[in-house]
Amino acid sequence: MLTVAPRGTKDILPGMINGWRYVENVMREVCREFNYQEIRTPIFEHTELFQRGIGDGTDVVDKEMYTFNDRSGRSVTLRPENTASVVRSFVENKLYAEPMPLKVYYMGPMFRYDRPQAGRMRQFHQFGAEAIGSESPVVDAETILLAVTVLKRLGLKELKLKINSVGCPNCRPQHRKLLQDYFRPHLAELCEDCQSRFDRSPLRILDCKVDHDKPFMAGAPKITDSLCDECHDHFETVKKLLDEASVEYEVDSTLVRGLDYYTKTAYEIQYSPLGAQSAVGGGGRYDGLVEELGGPSTPGVGFAMGFERIILALENQGLLPETKDAIDVFAVVPDAAAQADAFKTVMALRDAGFSCDMNQIDRSMKAQMKQADRDRARFALIFGEDERQRGAVMVRNMADSSQQEVKLSEVVSYIKKAEV
Ligand code: HAM
Repeated sequence: MLTVAPRGTKDILPGMINGWRYVENVMREVCREFNYQEIRTPIFEHTELFQRGIGDGTDVVDKEMYTFNDRSGRSVTLRPENTASVVRSFVENKLYAEPMPLKVYYMGPMFRYDRPQAGRMRQFHQFGAEAIGSESPVVDAETILLAVTVLKRLGLKELKLKINSVGCPNCRPQHRKLLQDYFRPHLAELCEDCQSRFDRSPLRILDCKVDHDKPFMAGAPKITDSLCDECHDHFETVKKLLDEASVEYEVDSTLVRGLDYYTKTAYEIQYSPLGAQSAVGGGGRYDGLVEELGGPSTPGVGFAMGFERIILALENQGLLPETKDAIDVFAVVPDAAAQADAFKTVMALRDAGFSCDMNQIDRSMKAQMKQADRDRARFALIFGEDERQRGAVMVRNMADSSQQEVKLSEVVSYIKKAEV
C-alpha cells in the first residue's frame, strides 16, 4: 500500500501539467472577461455546513462525504463541492455589505466517496463560479454563458446543454403532491432508495439511475407544468436570453440535480462521448441557501465543472497542448573540470530570464546531446576542454546544427541577440 495512491485519487504528473495549466488559463481568462474574481476557501469545513447546505438525504451527504473527527472531537468534512463554502464565506465575511452581485470563481480539489471509474474520482477537481445577490434571470444566463464559453474556447464540440426549472418553495409543494399521487400506486415497484425518497424528496425519484427506464417514469408530472407565475416568467426569460446569445439548449423537465439547494434554474452540460460520466458541468440557482446558512435572504446562482472530465474530453479530441515546455539552453558538461564554469554560466542565463538546465549525471557527450534534444533546447552549450582553455564555450544552435565559439563573459548577450 505504501507505493499505491488511495483508490479514486490520481497523481497529476509533470507530463500532464501543461494540459491542466492550459485549461486553468482559459478559465481564468474567461472569468476575467466576465468580471468574476477568484475566491479560495478551506479544503475542509464543519460537517454541519454540508448537511445543512447540500441537504441530508442527498447521496452526497448520506453516502459520499469524507467526514472525520479532528483531534479535539469536532466533526469536519473534506469539501464535496464548493457552493456551500462560498456561501459560508459570504455570510461570515459579511460580503453582502458590498456591492451586489458578488461574482467569484474557484478551482481546486473536492472529495466524494464515489465508486471510482473513468471520469469519476474520490478526489477530483472543480472549476466553478457563483454570483450571489441578484435574482435577475440575466445572471442565470450569464453563468451558463460563462460555462459554455470556457468549454467552447477549449475547442470542445458535441456539448449538450440541458436546462430545467425546479421551481421554488411556492410551487414545489404542489408538484411534490402531484408526484406522490402519481408514484403511490407504483411504490412497490420503485427501488429501495426511491421508496425512501418518496416522502423526503419525491422529485429525486425522477433522477434515479435504477428506476430510470421503468415504463411509468415517462408519464410522471412535469415540474415545468406546475411552476408559479414568477418561476415560469423567470424560466422564459432565461431561455430567451440564451436564444439571443445563440446558445443551443434542450429543456429537460426530468433534470434534477443531486444537491438540495436548487430553486428555479437547474442545468447540466453533457459531453456524450464520455459515456456514463457525461456531465462535464452543472449548476443552477439557489435562492434559499444564504438564508439557510444563517445569512440575510439573498439569491444566488452558479455552476461547477469537473477538470478530470474536461481533460478526458480534450484528450479524446486531441486538443491538449504539448506535454512539456521547450527550454532555451542545455549545458553539456564533458568532464568534472568544466562543472563550475557550466554552473556559473547556467545561473547567469537563468538570472537573465532564460530557461536552462545542465548535465547532472555521469554520461557520454552523445547521451547529453540526446538530453538537450529531449528537452527541446534551442541551444546546447558544449563546455569542451579546448574552448575552456580560451575562456570560451561552443554554442550549438539545435535547429540548424550550426556552432559558434563564444566567450564565457558574452554568452548571455549572445543568447539574447539570438533570440530576436
Ligand atoms: P455537481 O453536479 O455535483 O455540482 O458537480 C459539478 C461537476 O463536478 C460535475 O458535472 C462533474 O463534472 C464534476 N464531478 C462531480 N463529482 C465528480 C467525481 N466524483 N469525479 C469527477 N468529477 C466529478 C456541484 O458540485 C455544484 N456545487 C455546482 C454549483 C455551483 N451549483 C451552483 N453553484
